[in-house]
Amino acid sequence: MSERGAGFVPGLEGVVAAETRLSHVDGAAGELTVAGFPVEELANRATFEEVVYLLWHDALPDAGQLADLREALARRRALPRATLDLLRAAASEGTPPMDALRMAAGTASLRAGDASADGDAAYEEALAVVACLPTIVAAYRLLLDGEEPVDPDPELGHAANYLYMLGGGVPGDGSVRALEAYLATVADHGLNASTFAARVIVSTGSDLVSAVVGALGALKGPLHGGAPGPALDVVFEIGEARRAEPVLREKLGRGERLMGFGHRVYKVRDPRADVLATAAELLYATDGDAALYGLALEVEKTAVALLEEHKPGRNLQTNVEFYTALLLHGLGLPTELFTPTFAVGRVAGWTAHCFEQTERGRLIRPQSEYVGERDRRWLPIEER
Ligand code: COA
Repeated sequence: MSERGAGFVPGLEGVVAAETRLSHVDGAAGELTVAGFPVEELANRATFEEVVYLLWHDALPDAGQLADLREALARRRALPRATLDLLRAAASEGTPPMDALRMAAGTASLRAGDASADGDAAYEEALAVVACLPTIVAAYRLLLDGEEPVDPDPELGHAANYLYMLGGGVPGDGSVRALEAYLATVADHGLNASTFAARVIVSTGSDLVSAVVGALGALKGPLHGGAPGPALDVVFEIGEARRAEPVLREKLGRGERLMGFGHRVYKVRDPRADVLATAAELLYATDGDAALYGLALEVEKTAVALLEEHKPGRNLQTNVEFYTALLLHGLGLPTELFTPTFAVGRVAGWTAHCFEQTERGRLIRPQSEYVGERDRRWLPIEER
Protein backbone atom coordinates (compact mmCIF):
# COMPACT_ATOMS: atom_id res chain seq x y z
CA MET A 1 0.00 0.00 0.00
CA SER A 2 1.26 3.45 -0.86
CA GLU A 3 0.88 6.40 1.51
CA ARG A 4 -2.59 7.04 0.18
CA GLY A 5 -3.19 3.88 -1.76
CA ALA A 6 -2.49 5.19 -5.30
CA GLY A 7 -1.23 2.64 -7.85
CA PHE A 8 2.47 2.28 -8.56
CA VAL A 9 3.51 3.15 -12.13
CA PRO A 10 7.14 2.13 -12.75
CA GLY A 11 9.07 4.95 -14.38
CA LEU A 12 5.92 7.12 -14.14
CA GLU A 13 5.20 5.96 -17.68
CA GLY A 14 1.98 7.50 -18.93
CA VAL A 15 1.57 9.61 -15.79
CA VAL A 16 0.78 13.25 -16.56
CA ALA A 17 2.83 15.23 -14.05
CA ALA A 18 2.66 18.75 -15.50
CA GLU A 19 0.69 21.02 -17.79
CA THR A 20 2.90 22.84 -20.23
CA ARG A 21 2.63 25.21 -23.17
CA LEU A 22 6.29 24.58 -24.07
CA SER A 23 6.29 21.44 -26.20
CA HIS A 24 4.22 18.43 -27.11
CA VAL A 25 5.47 15.04 -28.23
CA ASP A 26 2.98 12.95 -30.21
CA GLY A 27 4.68 9.60 -30.39
CA ALA A 28 1.97 7.93 -32.47
CA ALA A 29 1.82 10.62 -35.15
CA GLY A 30 5.57 11.36 -35.04
CA GLU A 31 5.05 15.05 -34.32
CA LEU A 32 6.88 17.46 -32.07
CA THR A 33 5.32 20.85 -31.40
CA VAL A 34 7.47 23.52 -29.80
CA ALA A 35 5.48 26.44 -28.37
CA GLY A 36 2.88 25.96 -31.09
CA PHE A 37 5.32 25.46 -33.97
CA PRO A 38 5.89 22.12 -35.69
CA VAL A 39 9.58 21.49 -35.03
CA GLU A 40 10.38 21.48 -38.77
CA GLU A 41 8.84 24.96 -39.15
CA LEU A 42 11.02 26.32 -36.37
CA ALA A 43 14.30 24.49 -36.68
CA ASN A 44 15.14 25.48 -40.22
CA ARG A 45 14.54 29.18 -39.56
CA ALA A 46 15.02 30.19 -35.93
CA THR A 47 18.19 31.29 -34.22
CA PHE A 48 18.86 29.94 -30.75
CA GLU A 49 18.08 33.32 -29.21
CA GLU A 50 14.67 33.33 -30.97
CA VAL A 51 13.93 29.88 -29.56
CA VAL A 52 14.90 30.99 -26.05
CA TYR A 53 12.68 34.07 -26.35
CA LEU A 54 9.81 32.00 -27.71
CA LEU A 55 10.02 29.48 -24.88
CA TRP A 56 10.40 32.11 -22.18
CA HIS A 57 7.72 34.51 -23.48
CA ASP A 58 5.42 32.34 -25.62
CA ALA A 59 5.85 34.65 -28.64
CA LEU A 60 8.47 35.31 -31.28
CA PRO A 61 10.54 38.41 -30.48
CA ASP A 62 10.38 41.53 -32.63
CA ALA A 63 13.69 43.00 -33.81
CA GLY A 64 14.18 45.12 -30.67
CA GLN A 65 13.36 42.31 -28.26
CA LEU A 66 15.69 39.96 -30.11
CA ALA A 67 18.54 42.49 -30.07
CA ASP A 68 18.04 43.00 -26.32
CA LEU A 69 18.14 39.27 -25.59
CA ARG A 70 21.18 38.75 -27.83
CA GLU A 71 22.97 41.54 -26.03
CA ALA A 72 21.94 40.33 -22.57
CA LEU A 73 23.24 36.82 -23.29
CA ALA A 74 26.43 38.03 -25.00
CA ARG A 75 27.23 40.21 -21.97
CA ARG A 76 27.09 37.19 -19.67
CA ARG A 77 29.22 34.76 -21.69
CA ALA A 78 32.62 35.31 -20.10
CA LEU A 79 33.43 32.99 -17.21
CA PRO A 80 34.46 34.21 -13.77
CA ARG A 81 38.02 33.37 -12.76
CA ALA A 82 36.75 30.83 -10.21
CA THR A 83 34.95 28.91 -12.97
CA LEU A 84 38.06 28.81 -15.12
CA ASP A 85 40.14 27.66 -12.15
CA LEU A 86 37.65 24.87 -11.55
CA LEU A 87 37.79 23.82 -15.21
CA ARG A 88 41.59 23.83 -15.15
CA ALA A 89 41.55 21.58 -12.08
CA ALA A 90 39.03 19.25 -13.75
CA ALA A 91 41.10 19.11 -16.97
CA SER A 92 44.23 18.24 -15.03
CA GLU A 93 42.33 15.24 -13.61
CA GLY A 94 40.92 14.28 -17.04
CA THR A 95 37.35 14.69 -15.72
CA PRO A 96 34.75 13.78 -18.38
CA PRO A 97 33.18 16.86 -20.04
CA MET A 98 29.66 16.32 -18.64
CA ASP A 99 31.01 16.18 -15.09
CA ALA A 100 33.08 19.30 -15.69
CA LEU A 101 30.01 21.02 -17.15
CA ARG A 102 27.86 20.03 -14.17
CA MET A 103 30.42 21.32 -11.69
CA ALA A 104 31.09 24.56 -13.56
CA ALA A 105 27.42 25.30 -14.30
CA GLY A 106 26.85 25.67 -10.56
CA THR A 107 29.23 28.63 -10.54
CA ALA A 108 26.65 30.57 -12.58
CA SER A 109 25.33 31.50 -9.12
CA LEU A 110 28.40 33.72 -8.73
CA ARG A 111 27.03 35.99 -11.45
CA ALA A 112 23.35 35.45 -10.90
CA GLY A 113 23.71 36.68 -7.34
CA ASP A 114 23.21 40.26 -8.59
CA ALA A 115 19.51 40.36 -9.41
CA SER A 116 18.70 42.39 -12.51
CA ALA A 117 17.42 45.96 -12.31
CA ASP A 118 13.82 44.85 -12.05
CA GLY A 119 14.78 42.50 -9.25
CA ASP A 120 13.87 39.31 -11.13
CA ALA A 121 16.44 36.89 -9.74
CA ALA A 122 15.15 33.86 -11.63
CA TYR A 123 15.35 35.71 -14.97
CA GLU A 124 18.89 36.82 -14.18
CA GLU A 125 19.83 33.26 -13.28
CA ALA A 126 18.33 31.99 -16.53
CA LEU A 127 20.31 34.51 -18.58
CA ALA A 128 23.51 33.67 -16.71
CA VAL A 129 23.19 29.94 -17.10
CA VAL A 130 22.04 29.93 -20.75
CA ALA A 131 24.85 32.34 -21.64
CA CYS A 132 27.66 30.49 -19.91
CA LEU A 133 27.00 26.85 -20.82
CA PRO A 134 28.64 27.06 -24.29
CA THR A 135 31.59 28.97 -22.84
CA ILE A 136 32.13 26.25 -20.25
CA VAL A 137 31.94 23.42 -22.80
CA ALA A 138 34.24 25.15 -25.28
CA ALA A 139 36.76 26.29 -22.67
CA TYR A 140 36.90 22.83 -21.17
CA ARG A 141 37.44 21.21 -24.54
CA LEU A 142 40.46 23.42 -25.21
CA LEU A 143 41.83 22.97 -21.67
CA LEU A 144 41.61 19.19 -22.07
CA ASP A 145 43.72 19.57 -25.22
CA GLY A 146 46.28 21.64 -23.29
CA GLU A 147 45.19 24.86 -25.00
CA GLU A 148 43.97 28.15 -23.55
CA PRO A 149 40.25 29.00 -23.80
CA VAL A 150 39.17 31.36 -26.57
CA ASP A 151 37.40 34.49 -25.27
CA PRO A 152 33.79 34.83 -26.41
CA ASP A 153 33.09 37.30 -29.22
CA PRO A 154 30.11 39.51 -28.29
CA GLU A 155 29.56 40.38 -31.96
CA LEU A 156 28.65 36.79 -32.81
CA GLY A 157 25.30 35.14 -32.15
CA HIS A 158 25.02 32.40 -29.54
CA ALA A 159 25.52 29.46 -31.96
CA ALA A 160 28.25 31.11 -34.02
CA ASN A 161 30.10 32.11 -30.88
CA TYR A 162 29.99 28.55 -29.54
CA LEU A 163 31.69 27.24 -32.69
CA TYR A 164 34.13 30.16 -32.55
CA MET A 165 35.07 29.40 -28.92
CA LEU A 166 35.71 25.77 -29.87
CA GLY A 167 38.76 27.12 -31.63
CA GLY A 168 37.90 26.90 -35.32
CA GLY A 169 37.86 30.66 -36.03
CA VAL A 170 34.73 32.51 -37.15
CA PRO A 171 32.46 29.77 -38.56
CA GLY A 172 30.85 29.86 -42.03
CA ASP A 173 27.13 30.51 -42.47
CA GLY A 174 26.46 26.85 -43.33
CA SER A 175 27.93 25.62 -40.07
CA VAL A 176 26.09 28.23 -38.03
CA ARG A 177 22.77 27.38 -39.71
CA ALA A 178 23.34 23.68 -39.03
CA LEU A 179 24.06 24.30 -35.35
CA GLU A 180 21.05 26.63 -35.03
CA ALA A 181 18.88 23.86 -36.48
CA TYR A 182 20.29 21.36 -34.00
CA LEU A 183 19.86 23.63 -30.96
CA ALA A 184 16.26 24.48 -31.93
CA THR A 185 15.47 20.81 -32.51
CA VAL A 186 16.61 19.70 -29.08
CA ALA A 187 15.55 22.81 -27.11
CA ASP A 188 12.54 21.13 -25.56
CA HIS A 189 10.91 17.71 -25.65
CA GLY A 190 8.01 17.26 -23.27
CA LEU A 191 8.56 16.01 -19.75
CA ASN A 192 11.83 14.17 -20.40
CA ALA A 193 13.88 13.08 -17.39
CA SER A 194 16.16 16.12 -17.13
CA THR A 195 13.29 18.57 -17.57
CA PHE A 196 11.29 16.73 -14.92
CA ALA A 197 14.31 16.89 -12.60
CA ALA A 198 14.54 20.65 -13.13
CA ARG A 199 10.84 21.11 -12.42
CA VAL A 200 11.03 19.02 -9.25
CA ILE A 201 13.88 21.17 -7.98
CA VAL A 202 12.25 24.56 -8.57
CA SER A 203 8.92 23.22 -7.30
CA THR A 204 10.45 23.23 -3.82
CA GLY A 205 11.14 26.95 -4.11
CA SER A 206 14.80 26.28 -4.86
CA ASP A 207 16.73 28.38 -7.40
CA LEU A 208 17.06 28.00 -11.15
CA VAL A 209 20.81 27.35 -11.18
CA SER A 210 20.24 24.38 -8.84
CA ALA A 211 17.57 23.13 -11.24
CA VAL A 212 19.93 23.31 -14.23
CA VAL A 213 22.68 21.53 -12.31
CA GLY A 214 20.21 18.76 -11.40
CA ALA A 215 19.04 18.57 -15.00
CA LEU A 216 22.62 18.21 -16.22
CA GLY A 217 23.05 15.31 -13.82
CA ALA A 218 19.98 13.63 -15.30
CA LEU A 219 21.01 14.32 -18.90
CA LYS A 220 24.42 12.75 -18.32
CA GLY A 221 22.95 9.25 -18.03
CA PRO A 222 23.27 7.06 -21.14
CA LEU A 223 19.52 6.37 -21.18
CA HIS A 224 18.84 10.05 -21.73
CA GLY A 225 21.58 12.10 -23.36
CA GLY A 226 24.30 9.65 -24.21
CA ALA A 227 23.57 7.72 -27.45
CA PRO A 228 24.79 9.74 -30.46
CA GLY A 229 28.45 8.78 -30.10
CA PRO A 230 27.81 5.03 -30.55
CA ALA A 231 25.47 5.71 -33.52
CA LEU A 232 28.33 7.34 -35.39
CA ASP A 233 30.79 4.62 -34.39
CA VAL A 234 28.67 2.09 -36.28
CA VAL A 235 28.81 4.20 -39.47
CA PHE A 236 32.60 4.37 -39.15
CA GLU A 237 32.82 0.66 -38.40
CA ILE A 238 30.86 -0.11 -41.58
CA GLY A 239 33.14 2.15 -43.59
CA GLU A 240 31.68 1.41 -47.05
CA ALA A 241 28.12 0.91 -48.25
CA ARG A 242 28.48 -2.73 -49.32
CA ARG A 243 29.44 -3.68 -45.76
CA ALA A 244 26.29 -2.14 -44.23
CA GLU A 245 24.12 -5.23 -44.58
CA PRO A 246 26.58 -7.90 -43.33
CA VAL A 247 27.78 -5.76 -40.40
CA LEU A 248 24.27 -4.80 -39.28
CA ARG A 249 22.96 -8.32 -39.77
CA GLU A 250 25.75 -9.68 -37.61
CA LYS A 251 24.99 -7.18 -34.85
CA LEU A 252 21.31 -8.06 -34.84
CA GLY A 253 22.22 -11.75 -34.92
CA ARG A 254 24.30 -11.23 -31.78
CA GLY A 255 21.28 -9.61 -30.10
CA GLU A 256 22.77 -6.11 -30.22
CA ARG A 257 20.61 -3.02 -30.62
CA LEU A 258 21.30 -0.77 -33.56
CA MET A 259 22.16 2.62 -32.15
CA GLY A 260 20.17 5.52 -33.56
CA PHE A 261 17.04 3.44 -34.23
CA GLY A 262 13.89 2.86 -32.19
CA HIS A 263 12.34 5.13 -29.56
CA ARG A 264 10.36 4.76 -26.35
CA VAL A 265 7.79 7.40 -27.28
CA TYR A 266 7.90 7.69 -31.08
CA LYS A 267 6.46 4.61 -32.71
CA VAL A 268 6.96 6.12 -36.16
CA ARG A 269 9.90 8.10 -37.50
CA ASP A 270 11.20 10.64 -34.96
CA PRO A 271 10.37 14.03 -36.55
CA ARG A 272 13.65 15.42 -35.22
CA ALA A 273 15.52 12.89 -37.37
CA ASP A 274 14.01 14.48 -40.52
CA VAL A 275 14.86 18.00 -39.42
CA LEU A 276 18.43 17.06 -38.62
CA ALA A 277 18.76 14.97 -41.78
CA THR A 278 17.88 18.06 -43.83
CA ALA A 279 20.31 20.20 -41.85
CA ALA A 280 23.04 17.57 -42.15
CA GLU A 281 22.46 17.23 -45.90
CA LEU A 282 22.95 20.98 -46.37
CA LEU A 283 26.01 21.03 -44.14
CA TYR A 284 27.69 18.08 -45.80
CA ALA A 285 26.90 19.47 -49.27
CA THR A 286 28.88 22.62 -48.49
CA ASP A 287 31.37 22.07 -45.68
CA GLY A 288 31.48 18.35 -45.08
CA ASP A 289 32.58 14.95 -46.15
CA ALA A 290 29.94 14.11 -48.78
CA ALA A 291 31.08 10.48 -48.88
CA LEU A 292 30.38 10.06 -45.17
CA TYR A 293 26.92 11.55 -45.60
CA GLY A 294 26.19 9.19 -48.50
CA LEU A 295 27.38 6.24 -46.44
CA ALA A 296 25.18 7.26 -43.51
CA LEU A 297 22.13 7.32 -45.80
CA GLU A 298 22.93 3.79 -46.95
CA VAL A 299 23.44 2.62 -43.37
CA GLU A 300 20.12 4.15 -42.37
CA LYS A 301 18.23 2.55 -45.27
CA THR A 302 19.75 -0.85 -44.57
CA ALA A 303 19.19 -0.60 -40.82
CA VAL A 304 15.51 0.28 -41.16
CA ALA A 305 14.99 -2.61 -43.61
CA LEU A 306 16.82 -5.11 -41.39
CA LEU A 307 14.97 -3.96 -38.29
CA GLU A 308 11.67 -4.58 -40.10
CA GLU A 309 12.89 -8.08 -40.87
CA HIS A 310 14.13 -8.52 -37.29
CA LYS A 311 10.98 -7.17 -35.56
CA PRO A 312 8.23 -7.27 -38.18
CA GLY A 313 5.50 -4.70 -37.62
CA ARG A 314 7.38 -2.92 -34.80
CA ASN A 315 8.20 -0.08 -37.18
CA LEU A 316 11.64 0.61 -35.66
CA GLN A 317 12.69 3.85 -37.32
CA THR A 318 15.56 6.30 -37.26
CA ASN A 319 15.68 8.41 -34.09
CA VAL A 320 17.17 11.82 -33.33
CA GLU A 321 20.54 10.40 -32.31
CA PHE A 322 21.52 9.10 -35.73
CA TYR A 323 21.47 12.48 -37.46
CA THR A 324 22.61 14.33 -34.34
CA ALA A 325 25.80 12.31 -34.56
CA LEU A 326 26.25 13.05 -38.22
CA LEU A 327 25.49 16.74 -37.86
CA LEU A 328 27.71 17.38 -34.85
CA HIS A 329 30.52 15.37 -36.42
CA GLY A 330 30.15 17.48 -39.58
CA LEU A 331 30.54 20.57 -37.41
CA GLY A 332 33.87 19.25 -36.19
CA LEU A 333 32.73 18.33 -32.69
CA PRO A 334 34.36 15.31 -31.07
CA THR A 335 31.92 12.67 -29.77
CA GLU A 336 32.61 13.50 -26.11
CA LEU A 337 31.07 16.94 -26.74
CA PHE A 338 27.82 15.57 -28.17
CA THR A 339 26.00 15.33 -24.83
CA PRO A 340 27.36 18.67 -23.51
CA THR A 341 26.18 20.28 -26.77
CA PHE A 342 22.76 18.71 -26.24
CA ALA A 343 22.76 20.53 -22.87
CA VAL A 344 23.67 23.82 -24.59
CA GLY A 345 20.39 23.49 -26.53
CA ARG A 346 18.19 21.88 -23.87
CA VAL A 347 18.97 24.55 -21.28
CA ALA A 348 16.49 26.73 -23.21
CA GLY A 349 13.75 24.26 -22.30
CA TRP A 350 14.95 23.64 -18.76
CA THR A 351 14.88 27.34 -17.88
CA ALA A 352 11.48 27.84 -19.55
CA HIS A 353 10.04 24.89 -17.60
CA CYS A 354 11.44 26.39 -14.40
CA PHE A 355 9.57 29.65 -15.08
CA GLU A 356 6.40 27.74 -15.91
CA GLN A 357 6.67 25.50 -12.84
CA THR A 358 7.24 28.48 -10.57
CA GLU A 359 4.32 30.42 -12.05
CA ARG A 360 1.71 27.73 -12.13
CA GLY A 361 3.03 24.60 -10.50
CA ARG A 362 2.70 23.00 -7.12
CA LEU A 363 5.35 21.28 -5.03
CA ILE A 364 6.05 18.01 -6.87
CA ARG A 365 5.83 15.35 -4.22
CA PRO A 366 4.60 11.96 -5.42
CA GLN A 367 4.12 8.94 -3.22
CA SER A 368 5.93 5.67 -2.88
CA GLU A 369 4.62 2.22 -2.24
CA TYR A 370 6.15 0.70 0.87
CA VAL A 371 7.35 -2.88 0.21
CA GLY A 372 9.58 -3.30 3.28
CA GLU A 373 9.15 -5.23 6.52
CA ARG A 374 6.64 -4.24 9.18
CA ASP A 375 6.28 -4.55 12.93
CA ARG A 376 9.95 -5.14 13.64
CA ARG A 377 11.10 -5.00 17.24
CA TRP A 378 14.36 -3.40 18.29
CA LEU A 379 17.13 -5.85 19.31
CA PRO A 380 19.96 -4.70 21.55
CA ILE A 381 23.28 -4.97 19.70
CA GLU A 382 24.53 -8.00 21.63
CA GLU A 383 21.46 -9.98 20.54
CA ARG A 384 21.68 -9.36 16.75
N1 COA B 1 17.97 -2.42 -32.49
C1 COA B 1 17.55 -3.71 -32.37
N2 COA B 1 16.40 -4.06 -31.78
C2 COA B 1 15.64 -3.07 -31.25
C3 COA B 1 16.02 -1.71 -31.36
C4 COA B 1 17.23 -1.41 -32.01
N3 COA B 1 17.65 -0.15 -32.13
N4 COA B 1 15.08 -0.96 -30.76
C5 COA B 1 14.15 -1.80 -30.29
N5 COA B 1 14.50 -3.08 -30.58
C6 COA B 1 13.75 -4.28 -30.25
C7 COA B 1 13.66 -4.41 -28.74
O1 COA B 1 14.76 -5.17 -28.26
C8 COA B 1 12.35 -5.10 -28.56
O2 COA B 1 12.56 -6.47 -28.74
P1 COA B 1 11.78 -7.57 -27.81
O3 COA B 1 10.34 -7.31 -28.07
O4 COA B 1 12.30 -8.88 -28.33
O5 COA B 1 12.19 -7.26 -26.41
C9 COA B 1 11.51 -4.62 -29.71
O6 COA B 1 12.42 -4.14 -30.68
C10 COA B 1 10.56 -3.50 -29.35
O7 COA B 1 11.23 -2.46 -28.72
P2 COA B 1 10.44 -1.15 -28.25
O8 COA B 1 9.50 -1.52 -27.16
O9 COA B 1 9.90 -0.46 -29.45
O10 COA B 1 11.62 -0.27 -27.74
P3 COA B 1 11.94 0.13 -26.23
O11 COA B 1 10.98 1.15 -25.77
O12 COA B 1 12.16 -1.08 -25.42
O13 COA B 1 13.37 0.78 -26.45
C11 COA B 1 15.02 2.24 -27.15
C12 COA B 1 13.52 2.05 -26.99
C13 COA B 1 15.31 3.65 -27.68
C14 COA B 1 15.73 2.07 -25.79
C15 COA B 1 15.53 1.19 -28.16
O14 COA B 1 14.88 1.37 -29.40
C16 COA B 1 17.02 1.23 -28.33
O15 COA B 1 17.75 0.65 -27.52
N6 COA B 1 17.54 1.89 -29.42
C17 COA B 1 18.95 1.97 -29.64
C18 COA B 1 19.58 3.04 -28.76
C19 COA B 1 19.25 4.43 -29.19
O16 COA B 1 19.32 4.78 -30.37
N7 COA B 1 18.89 5.27 -28.20
C20 COA B 1 18.56 6.66 -28.43
C21 COA B 1 17.10 6.90 -28.31
S1 COA B 1 16.69 8.59 -28.73
